[in-house]
Amino acid sequence: QTVRLEEYRPSDHLIDRVELDVRLDDRETRVSAVLALRPNPAGEAGAALRLDGDEIDLVALELDGAVLAPDDVTASPSGLVLHAPPSRPFVLRIETRLDPSANTKLMGLYRSGGVYCTQCEADGFRRITYFLDRPDVLSVYTTRIEADRDEAPVLLGNGNPVEAGPVPGTNRHFAVWHDPHPKPAYLFALVGGRLGRVSAPFTTMEGRTVEVAVHVEPGREARAGYALDATLRAMAWDERAFGRAYDLDVFNVVAVSDFNMGAMENKGLNIFNDKYVLASAETATDADYANIEAIIAHEYFHNWSGNRVTCRDWFQLCLKEGLTVFRDQEFSSDMRSRAVHRIAEVRTLRARQFPEDAGPLSHPVRPRQYAEINNFYTATVYEKGAEIVRMLRTLLGADTFAAGMDRYFAENDGRAATVEDFLAAFAQASGRDLAGFAQWYEHPGTPRLSVEGRYDAQARTYALTFRQSLPGAPALMIPIALGLVGPQGALDGATCDRVRDGIFVLEMASDTITFENVEAPPVPSLLRGFSAPVRLETALGDVDRLTLLAHDPDPFNRWQAAQGLALRLMTGAAEPGTREAYGRALAGFLDTEALADPAFAALILALPGEGDVANEIGEGVDPDRIHAAREDLRRHLGAALGVRLSALRAALAEPPGAGFSPDAASAGRRALRNAALDLLAAADPETGAAEAAAQIESASTMTDRLAALAVLSLIPGAAREQALDAFGARYADEPLVLDKWFALQAAIPEAGTLARIAALRTHPAFSMTNPNRVRALIGSFPLSNPTQFARPDGAGFALVADAVLALDPINPQIAAKLLTSFGSWRLLEPGRGRLAREALERIRATPTLSRDVADIAARSVAG
Ligand code: ARG
Ligand code: ZN
Repeated sequence: QTVRLEEYRPSDHLIDRVELDVRLDDRETRVSAVLALRPNPAGEAGAALRLDGDEIDLVALELDGAVLAPDDVTASPSGLVLHAPPSRPFVLRIETRLDPSANTKLMGLYRSGGVYCTQCEADGFRRITYFLDRPDVLSVYTTRIEADRDEAPVLLGNGNPVEAGPVPGTNRHFAVWHDPHPKPAYLFALVGGRLGRVSAPFTTMEGRTVEVAVHVEPGREARAGYALDATLRAMAWDERAFGRAYDLDVFNVVAVSDFNMGAMENKGLNIFNDKYVLASAETATDADYANIEAIIAHEYFHNWSGNRVTCRDWFQLCLKEGLTVFRDQEFSSDMRSRAVHRIAEVRTLRARQFPEDAGPLSHPVRPRQYAEINNFYTATVYEKGAEIVRMLRTLLGADTFAAGMDRYFAENDGRAATVEDFLAAFAQASGRDLAGFAQWYEHPGTPRLSVEGRYDAQARTYALTFRQSLPGAPALMIPIALGLVGPQGALDGATCDRVRDGIFVLEMASDTITFENVEAPPVPSLLRGFSAPVRLETALGDVDRLTLLAHDPDPFNRWQAAQGLALRLMTGAAEPGTREAYGRALAGFLDTEALADPAFAALILALPGEGDVANEIGEGVDPDRIHAAREDLRRHLGAALGVRLSALRAALAEPPGAGFSPDAASAGRRALRNAALDLLAAADPETGAAEAAAQIESASTMTDRLAALAVLSLIPGAAREQALDAFGARYADEPLVLDKWFALQAAIPEAGTLARIAALRTHPAFSMTNPNRVRALIGSFPLSNPTQFARPDGAGFALVADAVLALDPINPQIAAKLLTSFGSWRLLEPGRGRLAREALERIRATPTLSRDVADIAARSVAG
């Protein structure tokens, strides 16, 4: 049942209007759907009507008010076929019955912590009623929701509220919602429950007043303020930055505790994983605040990039996701530090997308086929998809890019669009041929870009030769932001007519450009701001990298230089003496710059992760050796920088009684303070443990408390166990905080961690039915703890494989996601690689796998 892009055909029927009547009940919810259908002029005349279904329990069916003859229809839980539907408009009434409490897949209509909610993307609506559940069928929805008044005093739907009241003679009530904007079924949502709310009015640039509300578990309202504030900022920003205004009278955000993904952009009713809504200084870290801001904005921005302009089919997923990630990244960059945010984006891209693209699950940003679409909500579609949009802006310039965006929205408003429609808007706005650029969407894998420089002292020229390669792909259009750096900084006198606004666009497999007027041998600063998602290969030596770290005007490449040096030190590629020189360079940097930009300094100090080193090595990986090399470098830096790090910690100390603020500058000071503690403890565990223990006690924020606990968690001993126990007890009633505690313990790089994880699985707060718990304790483990996941005895692989199998019958989407953690198994040395493969084969051989898990398992071992 593979679906292929080239087999796309328009639907034979359309559904113009949908009237739903949903009577909520915890075990037996009734749904009556009245669908106004008609043949699609673009479809095949006289075709049968095939409605999608998934575990549907059909109660009644009528066509234009009449019961159908048994021969006219075939209905099963997974679909309904009308063999000879009318060739004129007609009305189907479908009544179905479902059990929200038994819905552990969390797709369709389910109950989470006593709250009724829905998740319909990608194909959950067909679990509620039979439907043309495809994104190119757009309908106007009216939804009546009815529920017990005590159980669900709050009833929310898409669009605007039109009517509400009691159901006479019962303890039930109802609300009717109407959404005037035609939408595909995946954007449908409803919520019913006991919910507290915070709200504020927003006035759009068109003068429309919108009631914005965030709904959370009653008693948690104080933790919803930041999400509300972020929503209002996102609304204002989208008007300023993209000219996009909101288009309904209300905008509702609801937090639920059981959710498969981060959040969902249902029209006018965004439903969130509560992890990305709830925040307080006591319970949320600075990273949590940043994620909340980004995801709130992401879902809000979908109102235009996704909802007003939706996707023709699921192959176009990046059309809404890549674009919306780009938009939320821009928002966060404007709200915070652009340079720091760019580094964070690239760290995620390299840690998640590059490995995905280098392994068996690699796929084009626009896939050409899928067995299970829910397995394609990937780093490639989202993150690489965003990089493509970013490159487009780099190529066209900000103004032309903005004109192209305006055109895209204007020409596709109310339509289900394609990547071609997107690119056409920019081709028209710029007058440029973007056919070559379109190749970025079509080819899997990370291109390699190798660069060689040659200085001619006599001619005072510097030539750069670029070569790109991506097996199976033609030459891509690669925007390369660059400049030349000398021992004192940028060489501004050097010029090159092929570099415009600091950008050279490589369009051929190889090309050479020449700078004139170069007075001394320069160091090239390449791919500034990470202007393209490629693997850059240069012959830069350690001294060159030290020059860039010290003098590059581009902050991203300064950070990149530090990362490159650390990687070379950890992989044994560095030249003799580099370790000391690197330590001196960092010392100089801390002395002169750390206090001016602590967030940036914290990034400069942060060593590449063990996964980054593994990706750099690329084959025959032994995680124990990587771990040892990284620990060695941490110890060295902690010792070399110790005095400075202690001084910084003192200089950055929170003044007593200072109030909490989650802003980027305050967060940056906390980040540097804690990065310093981490290195100090690496060099001197005894003092470090004492200092960490003291910080856990005195901390006034979760950021400081958790960072100290993380430092202490790496130092075996009674103090660690005591601190872990105390933390667990202190937050026993705070599941989102316990998630941090679960994840931190799963990351301990010691043999005892498997037993720890096994014990925590019996903790009263742990549950295999809650995705956040599973992700915290088990899902985080393979990435955060490579030595224990890839243990040479195979026990780490077995633990994750067992969890996948246990989870699959409960929630196949989460099980499949967990299984993707085996995606880099081919990098491992043969012994570990064989054990990983055996775990995958064991899963594959299990009967009754979900399509989700079977798909990932099959692709993981293929090729
Ligand atoms: N569209 C959502 C987002 O904002 C993701 C929801 C995907 N859900 C799923 N079950 N595949 O990114
Ligand atoms: Zn999205």
